[in-house]
Amino acid sequence: MSSVQLTCWQPSPTRLDLDRQTAHLWRFRLDLSAAEIGTLTHLLSAEEQHRATRLRDPAKGAHFIVGRGRLRQILARYLDCPPTVIEFSSTAQGKPHLTACKGLSFNLAHAGEWGVLLVAAGSEVGVDIEQIDPRLDFEQVVARYFSAAEESAMQRCPAPRQRRFFFRLWTRKEAGLKYQGCGFSAPLSATDSKARSRLFTPARGYLGALTVVDRIAVVQRWDF
Ligand SMILES: CC(C)(COP(=O)(O)OP(=O)(O)OC[C@H]1O[C@@H](n2cnc3c(N)ncnc32)[C@H](O)[C@@H]1OP(=O)(O)O)[C@@H](O)C(=O)NCCC(=O)NCCS
Repeated sequence: MSSVQLTCWQPSPTRLDLDRQTAHLWRFRLDLSAAEIGTLTHLLSAEEQHRATRLRDPAKGAHFIVGRGRLRQILARYLDCPPTVIEFSSTAQGKPHLTACKGLSFNLAHAGEWGVLLVAAGSEVGVDIEQIDPRLDFEQVVARYFSAAEESAMQRCPAPRQRRFFFRLWTRKEAGLKYQGCGFSAPLSATDSKARSRLFTPARGYLGALTVVDRIAVVQRWDF
C-alpha cells in the first residue's frame, strides 16, 4: 500500500479546496498573548467557556481556549460562516464533530506550545502530537498501554533509539485510536484495515501522527 504524501508547511491559500483524496493538516501556536486569548474566548460557546474555567491549571485553560478558537476560525473558512455559529456535538466517547455538517470531519490535538487540526471531507480522521520529553519514564507507559507485539518491538530496538521509537509508536497509536473515536477506551490492539497512518514533525522537539482512510493520498499542511 502506498503511503500518504505530505506537503511542506505553507501559509494557507485564500481558497481551500478539499476533495475526497486530500486532507488538510493545520498547525498553530498555543502560547498567545492575553489579548489574543481574550479575542478567541469570545468565539467560544458558553459551554466551551465554562469548560475552560473548570480547568484548574490556567495554562491548560488558555490552551483549551486557543485550540477551540482556532478550530472555529479554521472550520469557518470551509463552512463559509462566522466562527461563533458553529455547533459541535460529541460521540459517547467524547470525539467532537460538527452537528450540522456531517460531510466535514476533523480532529484536534495539542501538546506543549503547539496545536494541530486535521480536516477531511467524507471520512473520519485522527491526529496526535507529543512534545518529546527527555525525562519521561516511557517504560511505565509501555507496560500499561502497549500490546505484547508493540512491547517486543520496543525490546528489539537498540537502547539509544528506544525513546524516539516509543514516541513514534505512541503517537501512531493515539492517532489511530482518535481516528476510531474511542480513545483509550478501545482494546489496545484495535486497528482499522481501511486506515493508514503517517508520522510528521509539527515543530522542533515535537512528533505528530495522523490517521486517515486509505483513499486519502495527499495531506496538505497549512500554517495558521
Ligand atoms: C481522547 C484522548 C485520546 C485525547 O488524548 P490527549 O492526548 O489527552 O489529548 P489530544 O491533545 O491528543 O486530543 C484532545 C482533543 O481530542 C478530541 N477528542 C476528545 N475525545 C476524543 C475521542 N474519543 N476521539 C477522538 N478525538 C477526541 C478533542 O477535540 C480534544 O480536544 P478539546 O477537548 O480541546 O476539543 C484521550 O483523552 C482519551 O483516550 N480519552 C478517553 C476517552 C474515553 O475513554 N472515554 C470514555 C467515555 S465512554
